[in-house]
Amino acid sequence: MFDALQPRPVDAILGLIAEFNNDDRPQKVDLGVGVFRTPEGETPVLDAVKSAERRLLEQQTSKAYLGTAGDPVFNLAMQNLAFGDSAPADRLTTVQTPGGSGSLRVAAGLLLTASPEVKVHVSDPTWANHVPLLGGAGLALSPYPYYDTNTHVIRTDEMLETLRALPKGEVVLFHACCHNPSGLDPSDDEWRAIADIVVERELLPFIDMAYQGFSRGLDEDAFSIRQMAARVPEMIVSTSCSKNFGLYRDRVGTLSVLSADAATAKTVQSQLSYIARTIYSMPPDHGAAVVRTVLEDPQLTARWHEELNEMRGRLLDMRALLNTSLQEHAPEHDFSHLIRATGMFCFLGLSVEQVDALKRDHGVYMVGSSRINVAGITPDNVGYVAESIAAVL
Ligand code: LMR
Repeated sequence: MFDALQPRPVDAILGLIAEFNNDDRPQKVDLGVGVFRTPEGETPVLDAVKSAERRLLEQQTSKAYLGTAGDPVFNLAMQNLAFGDSAPADRLTTVQTPGGSGSLRVAAGLLLTASPEVKVHVSDPTWANHVPLLGGAGLALSPYPYYDTNTHVIRTDEMLETLRALPKGEVVLFHACCHNPSGLDPSDDEWRAIADIVVERELLPFIDMAYQGFSRGLDEDAFSIRQMAARVPEMIVSTSCSKNFGLYRDRVGTLSVLSADAATAKTVQSQLSYIARTIYSMPPDHGAAVVRTVLEDPQLTARWHEELNEMRGRLLDMRALLNTSLQEHAPEHDFSHLIRATGMFCFLGLSVEQVDALKRDHGVYMVGSSRINVAGITPDNVGYVAESIAAVL
């Protein structure tokens, strides 16, 4: 049976991990997969997380199953982090999922169960895995204009015009903050304009928030969610603790669904349980137990906030540093969008050939679209990175 199979191309983002590890040039620089790094190039376990893990090791008394929805206390804490008090609790259902990807996959199952023909509109461009993940689950996807790769700005007017023309009931996937891959998010006023159209056209907002706290702050980054939750009958929100808690491999996320009334919310809950059961049965516990421990303890929460602020500060600093270094090494090119964007990513605006040359000739790794993870920049390597980019321009 299997001899008829063809190998798949390596994943555009994850494939870079192995390629980078196999490169033995000491000057190599990893600007590929979205993980936070310190100036020393490490992705540490946060202090708040380590403390919570120690406590769990001492105090956890059982590893018996919790159920398809995971830990309800974790779910409520995460729901509050995303929604604040923007929506009535009895209309909200939140389940724990294996990371943000697991959340997206369960959301796809819910949409397909509710409306098999539904169309989901995704930003052009969007996270490289959105399309295979949601499309692979069976959803019909369609792009809406988002980013202008020549001028490095959001195509606001075209986006709004496209959204305004969508048929009632269609789903629109938004990135709450730190748009992956461009790093450019709508302003609060632009979010208000988007919400107006969502309400007017009766669209279903589906908001992916994988970087809460990495752009402006925990509450500020949830602006789009809270703005819409207060105004729409139905909405989907996927969250991830991979980046803001640094729990990447532990796979921690949630899926929240806002329903038109409390009775529908209960039905949604039972559907989500069924979908989870038919895919992975139950989410992994450890990472979620860590997040719960942090969020339940004011001291650990305060330490987490400090660490989150440090991570955000470092990303902003590295953007400024790279922009300054590029001004020096490639003065005829404008990279100022680096400091207009936030979060981990932005596009350099290079061709596939230039990206290949950076990898081959300089050991500087980035996704083929020329998306870079600015957390890979350090005060030590920034000169080399800028010089290498200038060399391929
Ligand atoms: C990324 O975009 O680099 C991260 O979200 C990691 C991933 O799974 O692709």
